[in-house]
Amino acid sequence: MILVLLGPPGSGKGTQAKRLSTEKSWPQLSTGDMLRAAIRIGSDLGKRAKSFMDKGSLVPDEVVIGLIAERTQSPDCSQGFILDGFPRTVPQAESLDRTLASRGLATNRAVLFEVDDSQLVRRLSGRRTCEKCSAMYHVETQQPKALGICDQCGGKLIQRSDDLETVIQNRLKVYHDQTAPLVGFYEHQKKLRRIDASLDIASVQKALAGSIQ
Ligand code: AP5
Repeated sequence: MILVLLGPPGSGKGTQAKRLSTEKSWPQLSTGDMLRAAIRIGSDLGKRAKSFMDKGSLVPDEVVIGLIAERTQSPDCSQGFILDGFPRTVPQAESLDRTLASRGLATNRAVLFEVDDSQLVRRLSGRRTCEKCSAMYHVETQQPKALGICDQCGGKLIQRSDDLETVIQNRLKVYHDQTAPLVGFYEHQKKLRRIDASLDIASVQKALAGSIQ
């Protein structure tokens, strides 16, 4: 299964990708997590990506295309993988199709997470992320047992620099302008399924499982 999770920032792609990855043993390939890891170690890639990410803009296509082309060749991807946050532009989707085709593969399904913008702002502005293991929490709906500490690894919970309200508004605009056209792209390929991602986490998980049957 080569699965694309498509949807606006805060729609729950990362939350569901982690759950599905655990259940099916398909790795979660999150370009956002890969870029944040590059920023943490201070690599040239990280330095280049940071200025785009802090503003809520997309990192140039050629950077993320290269990351995914390399990562999908790892042995752990041989039984399938979950793309979380990639592709995000039509050129990225076209490049993914070419890369997979050159290996005799293709995307099986693209699942669109549908949520209203007003709900997304509440989710993102309250999100807290573990700086060590990337586990996710929310100040109102998913609190850790001990304030500011990750339940899973004891790491420190932080607010992402792009989860500030002004940056969130730009991320939503970027989504509608540059990523939403992928809905038509995958509809045309007859691979698109839509799920109501405004429901609670368990219900979305059930809907996602149903959409990949
Ligand atoms: P990335 O890290 O991919 O961020 P994103 O797509 O903006 O998505 P998020 O991680 O913000 O949200 P999500 O949908 O995963 O929701 P989550 O599960 O976390 O990208 C960051 C940046 O990197 C981009 O802006 C760009 O600069 C760059 N980048 C990355 N990929 C790129 C690419 N391909 N091309 C170019 N640039 C790229 O949930 C959010 C919150 O809601 C959490 O607190 C969670 O607990 C809560 N929540 C989740 N589900 C529910 C639910 N059902 N009900 C209630 N609360 C929920």
